[in-house]
Amino acid sequence: MPKVYFYPDNRGVKVEDGENILRAAVLAGVHINASCGGSGTCGKCRVAVEQGDVEAQDSAKLSAEQVAQGYALACTTAVRGDVEVRIPVEVQMGDSRAALEREHRAVTHGSVLTSKDLSELFGDFDLDPVTHRVYVELSVPSLEDNLSDLERLKRELTRVHGIGDFTVDLACLKKMATKLREADWKVTATLMEGSNGECPRLIRLDAGDRSGKHYGLAVDIGTTSVYAELINLNTRESLGRVSEYNAQVSCGEDIISRIVYSLKKDGLTRLQNLVTDTINRLIGRLLEKSGVDRNDIVYMVAAGNTTMAHLFFGINARYIREGPYIPTVNFMPTVRAADLSIKIAEGARVYYIPGRSSYVGGDITSGLLASGVYKADKLTLYIDVGTNGEMVLGNSEWLLACACSAGPAFEGGSVKHGMRAVKGAIETVRINPDTLEPMILTIGQIKPRGICGSGLIDILAELFLTGVINEKGKFDLELGHPRIRESGGQAEYVLVWADESAIGEDIEITEVDLDNITRTKGAIHAGITTLLDSVQMPVEAIEQVLIAGGFGRYLELDKAITIGLLPEFTEDKVKYVGNGSLMGAHLVLLSQAARSSAKEIAQKMTYLDLSTNPSFMDNYVSALFLPHTDTNSFPSVMERIKERSRV
Ligand code: FES
Repeated sequence: MPKVYFYPDNRGVKVEDGENILRAAVLAGVHINASCGGSGTCGKCRVAVEQGDVEAQDSAKLSAEQVAQGYALACTTAVRGDVEVRIPVEVQMGDSRAALEREHRAVTHGSVLTSKDLSELFGDFDLDPVTHRVYVELSVPSLEDNLSDLERLKRELTRVHGIGDFTVDLACLKKMATKLREADWKVTATLMEGSNGECPRLIRLDAGDRSGKHYGLAVDIGTTSVYAELINLNTRESLGRVSEYNAQVSCGEDIISRIVYSLKKDGLTRLQNLVTDTINRLIGRLLEKSGVDRNDIVYMVAAGNTTMAHLFFGINARYIREGPYIPTVNFMPTVRAADLSIKIAEGARVYYIPGRSSYVGGDITSGLLASGVYKADKLTLYIDVGTNGEMVLGNSEWLLACACSAGPAFEGGSVKHGMRAVKGAIETVRINPDTLEPMILTIGQIKPRGICGSGLIDILAELFLTGVINEKGKFDLELGHPRIRESGGQAEYVLVWADESAIGEDIEITEVDLDNITRTKGAIHAGITTLLDSVQMPVEAIEQVLIAGGFGRYLELDKAITIGLLPEFTEDKVKYVGNGSLMGAHLVLLSQAARSSAKEIAQKMTYLDLSTNPSFMDNYVSALFLPHTDTNSFPSVMERIKERSRV
């Protein structure tokens, strides 16, 4: 990996070949003025490349003379080898020493689980899917050999494949006579193992030998996004993963508004159709990508929160949101895909990973399965932050789960310029402690349109660390900085001026926005504390922290701790599991033992209802400060605050 070394900061960082210099600067904790989000339009991120291989992709904002002098725009210049870069004083804006001190622990993404970790965590479930496809050639019936079609098939399946008695889908039976004769008695039988001691079931017959074409679909039905993965059930090979927004988003951003919508006339049907359409679109994309025939996808495993489960199955979700918050079902029956209008093989089944309660669903069970928490020796905290924050504390002996309404702030809701993590969203923010000017990066490095969750956490942390806001999240208007102003009766910080934004207006963060983000972080911290309180354990007892979910992947541990979203966990304890829900569904698709484990996890979890928990509210109120009212529990953050006042 090429190394980028920055002067005068004297800081280096290794990056992927092709990474741009601006991102390298963020990773190294070096400040470069970048007010257009890295879109190459503000021209402020000018750096001098003193040595090494770079590839400037766009220098339109530089004069010919500057280019001749070796200047390049950091955001549009790719690193192609070891590089030495000097940041001009006006671009660095201020005392680099202060920036260096401040950034000492910046951009600590913790460690992502490696494939080795994953295989250890996955354990060694044998490849044992619930479906089997077997090829048989039957003898042609005659007056002497006059067994019925079904008995003839059974006889051959027993003789050739040792398959004992099985039952059969009526739909399959209705077509059997024609199918066998049209296929010249050479067919592939798809059988599904029975559960609870039941015998296997024949779910479809196909002409010819299709035993090598045996596929399954793993689906994560998230409130915001749906992910689907196509898997070869004979080889474990993944044939592709795709995702798109859950089309239900048009009916409400969070689960509560979806439930409210479902209670309107035809609301439930509409929501069910919307998510089904989303999944069918994803299936279409996977088929196109892989060349697989949809009739060879014979099983689907889905995971998602309890509300998503109810809406997907078209089940009344009303009582999930009304006290005492009882779902209709936690353990969904296995149903025919066609009954849910899922367009895969006729006869294919859909299994939904079981949940524990209204607010701890199959997605959490699935994540606990995939990350191995249920068999861990270490005391583990598993966190999945999305619209809801779900947390599970435990190990191989016990699992204690809770959920808090994190609110939509981290997904871009309830914040003036909040948006989802899509192109144009500000995802990284640094504020120079001396000049209070921001360095921002957007997804896709285009002009900023708004701010996504990770950007919001950055902003809260940076405003706090630089003293622009106090521990209550209130702006210091005395600083007299042009970016800090009062508008419409509330204080705000202008992150992007109108002429540099894609929306033609200033992008600012207001005190009300900060308040909403603080409530979200407070709820998550309080959830963790309440779990610990109920088992009378200190935070130090947690030996491993696993952060799941798309949002978790972009969560910078350092910033999350600075704002008090998470306790002061050391980096070595924290790992990111990615989409635990999809990984668990993938495992269940491949292994009946994994499926049994998922069931056991859901049964074993103890659910702690925070809405009735007396200590949760106390913990929540204490967590509404930055980083927390108990500053002793955040020694490193307080040390940095002291450093700031010394500089
Ligand atoms: Fe590079 Fe604006 S031109 S950040």
